[in-house]
Amino acid sequence: MKAAIASSDTLFVLFGASGDLAWRMVVPALFDLYLDKHLPERFRLLAVGRSDAGDAALAEHYFKGVAENSRRGAPPPDAWQAFCGMIRHIRIDVSAPEDFSKLGKALEIYETEWGGKAERVFYLATPPSLFERIALGLGAAGLSQDRDHVRMVVEKPLGNDLDSFRRINDALCRIFEERQLFRIDHYLGKETVQNILAMRFANPIFEPIWNRRYVDHVTITVAETLGVGKRGGYYEHAGALRDMVQNHLLQLLCLVAMEPPVAYDADDIRDKKVDVLHAVRPIPRDTVDSFAARGQYAEGWIQGAKLAPYRDEADVDPHSNTETYAALKLYVDNWRWQDVPFYLRTGKCLAASVSEISIRFRDVPHRAFPASAGLNAQPTRLIIQMSPEQGIVLKFMAKEPGSQLRLRLVDMRFSYMEAFKTDTPAAYETLLRDVMVGDATLFMRADQVEAAWKLVMPILDVWAENPAADFPNYAAGTWGPESADLLVARDGNSWLTPTITKA
Ligand code: BG6
Repeated sequence: MKAAIASSDTLFVLFGASGDLAWRMVVPALFDLYLDKHLPERFRLLAVGRSDAGDAALAEHYFKGVAENSRRGAPPPDAWQAFCGMIRHIRIDVSAPEDFSKLGKALEIYETEWGGKAERVFYLATPPSLFERIALGLGAAGLSQDRDHVRMVVEKPLGNDLDSFRRINDALCRIFEERQLFRIDHYLGKETVQNILAMRFANPIFEPIWNRRYVDHVTITVAETLGVGKRGGYYEHAGALRDMVQNHLLQLLCLVAMEPPVAYDADDIRDKKVDVLHAVRPIPRDTVDSFAARGQYAEGWIQGAKLAPYRDEADVDPHSNTETYAALKLYVDNWRWQDVPFYLRTGKCLAASVSEISIRFRDVPHRAFPASAGLNAQPTRLIIQMSPEQGIVLKFMAKEPGSQLRLRLVDMRFSYMEAFKTDTPAAYETLLRDVMVGDATLFMRADQVEAAWKLVMPILDVWAENPAADFPNYAAGTWGPESADLLVARDGNSWLTPTITKA
């Protein structure tokens, strides 16, 4: 059970305050929390940066970010004024140790004014190359030691591979205790993703069929129509496997495949999730081609607009070997899932923007209906829709009305909007709120991130050592490369086109 929203005074220190993440995600989410009265009465956003921009300039910069990115659009003027009253720009050079002492003094001034200790949240919306320096600076200034009231939030990418993750993580763990570290994977803050656990473990009907006896295979799709846009510089060194699979898609796999937790409690849930990653069958280097497929978009058309090939995007090498599409076949070697394939796919510039998990059930064991009835033309599936539709669809066979015996697949549907008649909070709102109340359930523990890196490393290595001869190998606006179709076709399966594509 979550604690009531931060009734405690909170000092939220945002490093990288003038960056894109702060502008697009963090500040809009804080403002929406403010509108929903989910910020404590005494709250300050200390926006840390190196520039001399004053409070007013920063507020104006954030205004545009909120107008463009908040789920509520342009901020109401009065509320915005009040919110801005809580923002203070603070100039700090993270390479100057004495500046951290200056930060410490600023925090103390608020606490003295408020008459007691506040919760202190240090949020690193900076490039990961600065994580270690900032952590060490905070540590040296004595700002990490209050284990119960100080929290550190870090964003992905947490490293570029297993070794760099370990280096960054070791640095963070030298200064902070694990319980103070909140590693964000914003997928875990999405309502539809959180609902996977509610669906599976708050209803008695799913668990008995949630296993190898009834499930034929599972498909996890996170497809985007957008290309890399202005993020070419970052993406060139990341690629789809690091950017999406190592974190978001593996987290989804964990939620679908995990065992029931004993309690809805951060450690118990995270234990069960990491068990899944440990059970995933490792992919030997010499079999990578049988378990993974990669793609890179060529030019193409999406919704009437012509898109340039990835290699023509800004800050991208014209001979780039970076994958903008990745598909994986994984097996979870345990009693529940032995030999059930889990197919994961994600890509940029695909035919539709859609995220969904599809559980494909086994065919009936005996076909009592005549072949003419059309049984098995389509399998029974349960689809967890994360976006753009938010809900759950059960696709099952029904008899068509009429004198002839004809069977057809029909949908039984749950929609968030229809059921709850309310807008769902953005993932960042949920996550920031949880940081402020100290609930780590939806954050990644170090062992999970490490296990996820271990799992993808053989693929990353083999792909890096063997540039793809066929890149670019899918046209923008399609469902990805042929090699991904072959990956599942070898098992007699196919990627089913996502159910609803409101792209
Ligand atoms: C981010 C990736 O983590 O997730 C982006 O870096 C990707 O490349 C984004 O576009 C997708 O998030 P969402 O919430 O839009 O599905």
